[in-house]
Amino acid sequence: MDEIKAIGVVGGGQMGSGIAQLGAMNGLDVWLLDSDPDALARATKSISSSIQKFVSKGQLSQARIFLFGKAGTDAMRLLRCTSNLEELRSVDIVIEAIVESEDVKKRLFLELDKITKPSAILASNTSSISITRLASATSRPRQVIGMHFMNPPPIMKLVEMVRGADTSDETFSATKALAERFGKTVVCSQDYAGFIVNRILMPMINEAFFTLYTGVATREDIDAGMKLGTNHPMGPLELADFIGLDVCLSIMKVLHAGLGDSKYAPCPLLVQYVDAGRLGRKRGIGVYDYRKAPEAVKSKSRL
Ligand SMILES: NC(=O)c1ccc[n+]([C@@H]2O[C@H](COP(=O)([O-])OP(=O)(O)OC[C@H]3O[C@@H](n4cnc5c(N)ncnc54)[C@H](O)[C@@H]3O)[C@@H](O)[C@H]2O)c1
Repeated sequence: MDEIKAIGVVGGGQMGSGIAQLGAMNGLDVWLLDSDPDALARATKSISSSIQKFVSKGQLSQARIFLFGKAGTDAMRLLRCTSNLEELRSVDIVIEAIVESEDVKKRLFLELDKITKPSAILASNTSSISITRLASATSRPRQVIGMHFMNPPPIMKLVEMVRGADTSDETFSATKALAERFGKTVVCSQDYAGFIVNRILMPMINEAFFTLYTGVATREDIDAGMKLGTNHPMGPLELADFIGLDVCLSIMKVLHAGLGDSKYAPCPLLVQYVDAGRLGRKRGIGVYDYRKAPEAVKSKSRL
């Protein structure tokens, strides 16, 4: 397998932009692809400002500061944006971070399999969808793997690797080495719905919605109770807004269908918020309304 020098990231939302940033900050050539040109414009802006924050806080090594220049602007030269999948033909690995839908992801993997070079690894940042089934859309299931970054990718220390039924040891080693090059700690999960982190986290968030839905407590008391009572950095409802309520709902549906237990049924209030377009911080409104108090939003913006 070739040494990984160039990566493609598909999906320039909150996760894809952070993964692309990690690639550029670690000296890789990066193609960031999104079907929505506005998403690419937002991603470029947020990556540039985040890299500058890393530099100004002294969180990059001297070698990296040399590579990126004092303002971190040189890292941006390693990053190219596109809406054309053909640009990914020569990358060594593609990390997919598009919408959490099995059908949409499978269609993308089918296309990527045709376009990318035969040795390329196809990785998915899916939170819960079966890697084995995504791999089945390709002719290279040995080179398909789950590479689940946490939000926000440049800051969170964990990458959860997920091996599909046919993922080869070579693919696992190369992808693990890439995560470690990004400074991450790797844990490995078998390919069952929700893997490790979301199998445990999402039922807790869903239960927080039930607690709100059934009038046990206010949203503020639910969040404060879990923050101060269990030493979590964010309350579960605040965290749901940060992740995206649509993403949380999709994961609960995957857990419900994949594990076949009614305890994973999504809370009707979570479903209703998503139906109403209350998707969380990215839309300015979720469980909380961020549009009215920009300063409060900023204070909720970091884990
Ligand atoms: N949000 C989180 O906290 C989190 C954490 C870990 C993993 N994930 C996973 O990462 C993935 C992305 O989540 P996100 O929160 O970044 O979503 P997001 O909504 O912020 O971004 C998704 C992006 O994908 C683009 N897109 C959708 N379909 C596309 C296609 N066919 N081709 C190209 N671009 C396409 C959209 O335009 C959008 O910009 C999901 O699988 C999600 O489950 C999310």
